[in-house]
Amino acid sequence: MSIRIGDIAPDFKAITSIGEIDFYEYLGDSWGVLFSHPADYTPVCTTELGRTASLKKEFDQRNVKVLALSVDPVESHLGWIKDINETQNTEVDFPIIADSDKTVANLYDMIHPNASETLTVRSLFVIGPDKKVKLIITYPASTGRNFNEILRVIDSLQLTAKYSVATPADWKDGEDVIVVNSIKTEDIPAKFPKGHKVIKPYLRTTPQPNK
Ligand code: BEZ
Repeated sequence: MSIRIGDIAPDFKAITSIGEIDFYEYLGDSWGVLFSHPADYTPVCTTELGRTASLKKEFDQRNVKVLALSVDPVESHLGWIKDINETQNTEVDFPIIADSDKTVANLYDMIHPNASETLTVRSLFVIGPDKKVKLIITYPASTGRNFNEILRVIDSLQLTAKYSVATPADWKDGEDVIVVNSIKTEDIPAKFPKGHKVIKPYLRTTPQPNK
């Protein structure tokens, strides 16, 4: 069964490169990113895991725990991590699930048989502290993910979880945001005292409230 935005992210236990983990225990009260890789010792995946490791500070600042997955065994992961650290000049310290029996890949519908019968596509799920799925992005094996975009969406998700705002196209942290339409225009000044613009009755903007 496929997973959709708003669904509870299924819990699981898995063997990983840092030992056995229970997904919910690993997440605790943090946000989470669960993302799959088609296979170990492959070039695009090597750059993606290196990039993820080099963004550790960014994920930590946002209170996000990352968890990678590949359907290869743990011994393979451990050797591959050495290569990733060497070639990407980084230190992979987040777990990589060794999903040899594809339990988690199937649970999260990461295998798309018309792309490959055996390997996962590049699935990525952002999970909130309430364990609900907030974002799903799927890339083909041949295209490495844009991790700046992943951080950007996390910024938007965390902002919109706290304030009655939405973020416009190409929004980046620090830029003006949209006041949601459930807030009446006359109520905006009390809720957003930094000011606002009414471009159309349905399009009202305000400076980012937490900056
Ligand atoms: C890669 O990570 O480079 C890759 C993996 C599977 C298929 C194509 C590319």
